Amino acid sequence: MPVITCIDDLKKIHERRAPRMFFDYCESGSWTEQTFRENVTDYDKIRLRQRVAVDMTGRSQKTQIIGQDATMPVALSPVGLTGMQHADGEILAARAAGKFGVPYTLSTMSICSIEDVAENTEKPFWFQLYTMKDMDYTTRLIERAKAAKCSALVITLDLQILGQRHKDLKNGLSAPPKLTPKSIANLATKWAWGLEMLQTKRRHFGNIVGHAKGVTDTSSLSSWTAEQFDPALDWGKVAKLMEMWGGKVILKGILDVEDAKRAAELEPDAIVVSNHGGRQLDGALSSIRMLRPIVDAVGHKTDVHIDSGIRSGQDVLKALAMGAKAAHIGRAYIYGLGAMGEAGVKTALDVIQKELDTSMALCGRQTIDQIDPSITLIPEDFEGRWHTT
Ligand SMILES: Cc1cc2nc3c(=O)[nH]c(=O)nc-3n(C[C@H](O)[C@H](O)[C@H](O)COP(=O)(O)O)c2cc1C
Repeated sequence: MPVITCIDDLKKIHERRAPRMFFDYCESGSWTEQTFRENVTDYDKIRLRQRVAVDMTGRSQKTQIIGQDATMPVALSPVGLTGMQHADGEILAARAAGKFGVPYTLSTMSICSIEDVAENTEKPFWFQLYTMKDMDYTTRLIERAKAAKCSALVITLDLQILGQRHKDLKNGLSAPPKLTPKSIANLATKWAWGLEMLQTKRRHFGNIVGHAKGVTDTSSLSSWTAEQFDPALDWGKVAKLMEMWGGKVILKGILDVEDAKRAAELEPDAIVVSNHGGRQLDGALSSIRMLRPIVDAVGHKTDVHIDSGIRSGQDVLKALAMGAKAAHIGRAYIYGLGAMGEAGVKTALDVIQKELDTSMALCGRQTIDQIDPSITLIPEDFEGRWHTT
């Protein structure tokens, strides 16, 4: 068992273990990847304020996220094709999150289906919805998530059309991988991944194949996805989806103050400041730069969460100090899953909790509710002076 000290250690093992097309799918941003890079590097510009001689006994990271108890203010983001990073990936990640005591979000584009994850895990999970033109299918998805007792619906708003990720096109990304001379050469070096994959039946998009009209196998799936994501999604439709669901709702993918205000009018349980991990609009600002303006505008009306670029407990602490009520992680746990399955997701969560605990302590804070803006040092021009005209 290698010594894992940080999330980057898991990433290196994930890269060695998973087929190139799936590691690249995870480690990509759209177009030039500027936003993908800045999501991470902008956290480095924020510094923490060291405080000393504060009683540090009885520390805790316990909190509530949308009214649900959590071991720390971190949730696992929805990630498509998780079951291709490691066999049965969604089930393993949901189990690790459940045992650790943080929410897991299942993607619409998962390999394991909603029902499969519900049957094979013990704790309720959140379900992420992509809205499709086929309203019958969308309605059934919502009904299926209700039947599986999902404890929140996460509606993603920033993917009506898909940002281009060059590597996916070059690698011919597909699930399961299509066999070409290039993919066969790469798969031949990934025997541990392959052996595990041979032992599972979960190799297709479980929420779609057999559920959406006209999709019986994955060969028709890519065209179905391109055709079916609903480009006409608007705030009226979002309100209808929230009504159909009737339970806790999180609106994900908000990066603009005006959009945050519109979203808050719908009274969701939380919004997530997010640019989809830099995978959609290349050239957009990083999430952390947009956090404070959005918290200032709507933080009194709704909980503001954040994702995109979080790779450490220090990043979580910075986001909390700047007003986020929770931080969602995508790649940070996928690296763990791709590296060593359920144990890897647990390791990623352990790493982040330990970093958060120690950093809180060294900033003189024992509990989550003691975290406030005064523990950060933020460059004066951090949010930037941008002109819209
Ligand atoms: C490989 C990958 C697949 C993703 N798939 C989805 C998805 O199916 N639905 C969704 O709402 N967001 C998806 N996202 C975005 C994540 O939910 C989240 O916003 C992003 O990963 C956060 O950035 P981070 O990876 O830097 O933590 C995906 C992200 C990655 C990296």
